[in-house]
Amino acid sequence: MKFDTLALHTGVEICPHTGASSVPIFQSSTFHWESLDDTPKFDYARSGNPTRAALEHAIAALEGARHGFAFSSGMAAITGVLLTLSAGSHIIACEDVYGGTFRALTKVFTRLGIETTFVDTTDLNQIEAAIRPQTRAIYLETPSNPNLRVTDLAGAVHIARDHGLLSIVDNTFMSPCLQNPHALGADVVVHSATKFLGGHSDVVAGVATCNDDDLAEEIYLIQNGCGGVLGPQDSWLLMRGIKTLPLRIRQSQATASQIAAYLSQHSKVHNVFYPGLPTHPGAEIHQRQAQGPGAVLSFDLGSSDAVRRFVEHLHVPIFAVSLGAVETILSYPARMSHAAMPEEQRRRLGITDGLLRLSVGLEDAEDLLEDLEHALRKI
Ligand SMILES: Cc1ncc(COP(=O)(O)O)c(C=O)c1O
Repeated sequence: MKFDTLALHTGVEICPHTGASSVPIFQSSTFHWESLDDTPKFDYARSGNPTRAALEHAIAALEGARHGFAFSSGMAAITGVLLTLSAGSHIIACEDVYGGTFRALTKVFTRLGIETTFVDTTDLNQIEAAIRPQTRAIYLETPSNPNLRVTDLAGAVHIARDHGLLSIVDNTFMSPCLQNPHALGADVVVHSATKFLGGHSDVVAGVATCNDDDLAEEIYLIQNGCGGVLGPQDSWLLMRGIKTLPLRIRQSQATASQIAAYLSQHSKVHNVFYPGLPTHPGAEIHQRQAQGPGAVLSFDLGSSDAVRRFVEHLHVPIFAVSLGAVETILSYPARMSHAAMPEEQRRRLGITDGLLRLSVGLEDAEDLLEDLEHALRKI
């Protein structure tokens, strides 16, 4: 099945008991045992809930994986996967990793004796050079947040395979609609499902997928053992969001492409980062490994003063943390997504005080362009 069809028909969309066209919200924490010897499929909702199971089946189907897991947030999914590593393990991660993941790796996992080396993964040699005898995993985001830097997924996975390392890809920015890391050989895919998968800024959730049965058992052990599971209401909301994922992505991406082209010609804009621009350093690799440039771009206005004036005069987007929603969201990475990153590292990565990230939603493109023009004139 093509992706648009799959987003609607993953095989779990009809209730087997009633024929209802929407998976019911099984608001139940516990399930009846018919007899002492008859362990039911679901017995306690941390271990499994039918609504969450339907979502887990759906996300596995969309990512082209055998196993799917739904967690209470993107961070719960990411840390859940990383907790499958043992004390003493070493991880190689992209240096511009999401700020929350950076915080977990540097402030939480270090307590467990799990160390991370952050490298520029757009240069595969840097990955190779960082490998130690204790290295167990390579953790990637592409395009990365917020400068949309592109890592060659097939190349990185190849290195991981050669050295027996787990490859983990945060696919939040692309969604399975545009990029399928498992098809390129990645072992684990994680998402902040709070973003494009949910799509409506109304649910915090995370998912992870994998193909290997033993690894799936390990992830399940952490999901059930540590308990950061997604509740049935949120599981249902996520399934509803997923139904329109391809349509939302296509529309938002078309407008984002227009906006990126417009901003890159504007005299008040110093730099635009968008993998759909032919001038983007990773454009060629991105085109090879993804089905489109996506709906997120960032641009630099040169200073925090310019940002302040711009934000004060912009009316249509909401100014907030997050991305991947029906409404356009403007974020200020230095103070929002990357506030947890030391200033010196932020500057080195180009996360300047003039940088803004725009996640384009479903508003009329002309309204957005007019609003941007109006605010840029005020700088
Ligand atoms: C790329 C990326 N990964 C992970 C996360 C964490 O997800 P959550 O906020 O759902 O815990 C975020 C959140 O912004 C993100 O942007």
